[in-house]
Amino acid sequence: MYVYLHTKSSEHMTIGNFELNNIYNIDCVEGMKLLPDNCIDLVITSPPYDDLRDYNGYKFDYQKIANQLYRVIKEGGIVVWIVGDKIKNGNKSLTSFKQALFFQEIGFNVHDVMIYQKKNTPFMRLNAYTNCYEFMFIFAKGKPNTFNPLKTKTVRNGVEKLVANKKSDGINKKVVGELKKEKTLTNIWDYAVGLGGSTNDKIAFEHTAIFPEKLANDHIMSWTNENDIVFDPMSGSGTTCKMAKINNRKFLGMEISKEYTELSIKRLKLLEHQLF
Ligand SMILES: C[S@@+](CC[C@H](N)C(=O)[O-])C[C@H]1O[C@@H](n2cnc3c(N)ncnc32)[C@H](O)[C@@H]1O
Repeated sequence: MYVYLHTKSSEHMTIGNFELNNIYNIDCVEGMKLLPDNCIDLVITSPPYDDLRDYNGYKFDYQKIANQLYRVIKEGGIVVWIVGDKIKNGNKSLTSFKQALFFQEIGFNVHDVMIYQKKNTPFMRLNAYTNCYEFMFIFAKGKPNTFNPLKTKTVRNGVEKLVANKKSDGINKKVVGELKKEKTLTNIWDYAVGLGGSTNDKIAFEHTAIFPEKLANDHIMSWTNENDIVFDPMSGSGTTCKMAKINNRKFLGMEISKEYTELSIKRLKLLEHQLF
C-alpha cells in the first residue's frame, strides 16, 4: 500500500489506516476492510464496465465491493454508482441492472436511477440508435442525510394565471401569480466529454475511462456539505478526489493500478499548484 500525496500537517486526519485527502494504491476490497463502519458520507465511483477495457487484468468483484460499501457508508450516506453496459453480438449485457439489484438486495435503497448523457458520443451503431448515456444509480443507506437540489433557470418568467387549489373534484381555480424563476434539475444530466469537456487536464486522458469533473462536482454539491468525507474506491485518474478538494470536502481514493494512482497524484499536485 502506498501513500503518494503528503498534505499539510493541519490537514492531517485519518480514518482507519488511511490519511484523508490522499489516494492509495490498493485493491479497494482489501482497503475498505481497514476502514471503520459508518465513516463515509458520499461515494462517487465508476467500476470497470464488463470487460470493455483491460485494466491490466485486475480483478473486480462488485459483490464484495458493494458489501464493504454498505458497511463503511454512514447511515443516510449515498453511493453514486456510474455504469454502462457492453454490447456483445447485438446483446446488451445489463450488468448495470444486475449490480443495482444486488445493491438493493443487501440493504441499500435505490434512491434514484439517474442518467449521465454524453453531449458528444462516438459510439455509433448501424442498426440501433447511438448510445449516449450511462446510468448513475443513487444508492442510499436509509434516508439521505443531505440533499441540496441543483437548480436551473425556468424558460418563462413574469406574471401569469396559474392553477391553484386543485381539489379532488378536479376543478382548478386560476389565480394571477409570479412564475418561479428557477426549478430543480431533472434526473438526466448532460455533459460534454473529451478534452475541454470532461476536464482540461491533459494528463487525465492517460486513463481510458474518466467521467467529467462537472458530473463529480454536481453530485458532491447535491449530497454533501463542506468537510464531509467523499470516497472513490476505484479512483482512476482522481476525478472525484480532485472535485472534492476543490469543494472543501475531505476525500479518500483507492486505486488498484499503480500507474493510475501515480497519474491521479500528479493531477492533484497540479491542482495544488493552481490553487496556491
Ligand atoms: C472506470 S475507471 C474509473 C475512472 C474514474 N472515475 C476517473 O474519472 O478517472 C475504473 C477504475 O477501477 C480500477 N479498479 C478496478 N478494480 C479495482 C479494485 N478492486 N480496487 C480498486 N480499483 C480498481 C481500475 O484500475 C480503473 O482505474
